[in-house]
Amino acid sequence: SPASVLGLVDRAPVVPVVVVSDAAAAVPLARALVAGGLPAIEVTLRTPAALEAIRAIAAEVPQAMVGAGTVITPEQVGACAAAGARFLVSPGWTDTLLEAMRGSGVPFLPGVSTASEVVALLERGVREMKFFPARAAGGTAYLESLSGPLPQARFCPTGGIGPASAPEYLALPNVGCVGGSWMVPADAVAAGDWARIEELARGAARLGGVRDA
Ligand code: 3PG
Repeated sequence: SPASVLGLVDRAPVVPVVVVSDAAAAVPLARALVAGGLPAIEVTLRTPAALEAIRAIAAEVPQAMVGAGTVITPEQVGACAAAGARFLVSPGWTDTLLEAMRGSGVPFLPGVSTASEVVALLERGVREMKFFPARAAGGTAYLESLSGPLPQARFCPTGGIGPASAPEYLALPNVGCVGGSWMVPADAVAAGDWARIEELARGAARLGGVRDA
């Protein structure tokens, strides 16, 4: 089974979740995030520019570790792997999707929001998952409750997380990283305000240190 996503992002456990409308913005955006201390970057497949953005970051920003988010079909798995994605993230999962992700050789995080989904993934040999939508599905209290009966499962919560709540998630024993979009506000990306994004990334990167405190 492929290397673990949580292992990959261990030293930068805050993962910016990025929506790129213009592929030309991808490289400067990735450079700003890397400069701010966030090398693991999830580019969501929510825009037509996403695959080109992944290709550009993989080719031109070697310090970044670019992954693909919102991966929900086997076709997308193949396209993302070919574009150079180093990890794959999905808001949910099916057996079809899981099979494609495993087959790609690229580390992946299928999404769950219930105990039954966690059990089903454990049954399939998957121990690392995205917890989505984290805040709406019960937040830190829910994840803490899962750690009792299901301590083997480790999570990357995303959805509704911000600088105030990220440290609370990262302090949980079953959380390996957190994802969020707060450090890449749409207006700053649209304006090409890379200095602002670098500063927001710097603040987010500091939150990751809480786990080691
Ligand atoms: C997502 O998939 O959209 C991520 O969970 C980011 O969520 P956020 O925008 O609420 O941080």
